[in-house]
Amino acid sequence: MISGDRQPNGYRVYTEKDLQRILLIQKLQSGGLTLKECKACLEEKVNKALLMERVTVLDKEIEQKQQSKKLLVALIGEGDTKAWHEDLNKRAPDAHLEWLLTQGFSDKEALQLKWLSKNMNEHDLYMNDFMKIFETLERWGPGSEEDTKKALLAVPKLPESILEIGCGKGLSAEVLAKCSNAEITALDNEQSALDRLEQRFAQQCLVDQLSTVCAGMTELPFPKNSFDLLWAEGSAYIIGVENALAQWRSVLRKHGYLMLSDMVWRTSTPSCESIEFWEQEYPDIQLVQTRINQMKKAGYQVIDHFPQSESAWLNYYTPLGKRLSELERDLADSSAFKDVQNEVNICTQFGHEFGYHMFILEKLNS
Ligand SMILES: C[S@@+](CC[C@H](N)C(=O)[O-])C[C@H]1O[C@@H](n2cnc3c(N)ncnc32)[C@H](O)[C@@H]1O
Repeated sequence: MISGDRQPNGYRVYTEKDLQRILLIQKLQSGGLTLKECKACLEEKVNKALLMERVTVLDKEIEQKQQSKKLLVALIGEGDTKAWHEDLNKRAPDAHLEWLLTQGFSDKEALQLKWLSKNMNEHDLYMNDFMKIFETLERWGPGSEEDTKKALLAVPKLPESILEIGCGKGLSAEVLAKCSNAEITALDNEQSALDRLEQRFAQQCLVDQLSTVCAGMTELPFPKNSFDLLWAEGSAYIIGVENALAQWRSVLRKHGYLMLSDMVWRTSTPSCESIEFWEQEYPDIQLVQTRINQMKKAGYQVIDHFPQSESAWLNYYTPLGKRLSELERDLADSSAFKDVQNEVNICTQFGHEFGYHMFILEKLNS
């Protein structure tokens, strides 16, 4: 772009004019132009279209850099990481969980963070508000006595030992105890739920049948082949259905049974609202047939399966909606409150497009 005069001895000589031309090129370069673009600007009138293209590219780069800065500031502890966690949970769920554990969160906290708070900086505050909403509710997920009985009836042999995983306050455990006479081991990582469950069993004179275990579902603290039946209503999603099928298998005796319920699509053409909601809340939501294929592949025979009833849905969302109205004034600014309110709204409006499905499986020889 500049050409000095070559001397007989081969040296090149540059003039003051050349130097100024270099300074001019540098000024143009500082606008983000390439050398080729600078040359074009030097040789003819400024090409506005070309500069506009450059401005658009710069705008994109600025936006990207602002996103990067926002993320780093959030990871340092001063911002919102919700969208980032949601995206990671959707694209790389196992790596996401492992990373949260590396950051010093316990297994319980990491799973809550993954599914509920999605916020590393205000996790405790979120969980406090979340528990405040649910503390007075008996059901912590959709369910009904009739559905639990129907699923138990589908189990070909009455079990003598049942492990309920993610038992909550024990409404299903009570039905299982009454309808089977089996020894029930109720596992949950929330001690307050187990306390309520013990109270319920005491009131019904069922305590002889009960042991409670406050532990995580990721690594079940039982020897191999301990149970005739595993029961998981609305809880397998927490570690992922495919992980649950693989990891829970060992505590189930040969030809034992597993009942799990999972949120599934009830239509192959869900609305945009439902898709957007579940992409954030449970990106692994599937059609029934996909789950059945996964269950077979994991070494189970699918004995029966059916959709949870409408009443199971209402048993959960009606009291939850009332509870939100009670707390509206206290928790209006709470993220947990807003998230639960959004769930109630979507599930009330679009609940015909998705719902829990109950699967009764037999463990095949491996
Ligand atoms: C959606 S609720 C379902 C509760 C109950 N099965 C029902 O239908 O009402 C999920 C339950 O799993 C428990 N839970 C969540 N994460 C858990 C974990 N990592 N290990 C064991 N239990 C967990 C919760 O405390 C809660 O009781």
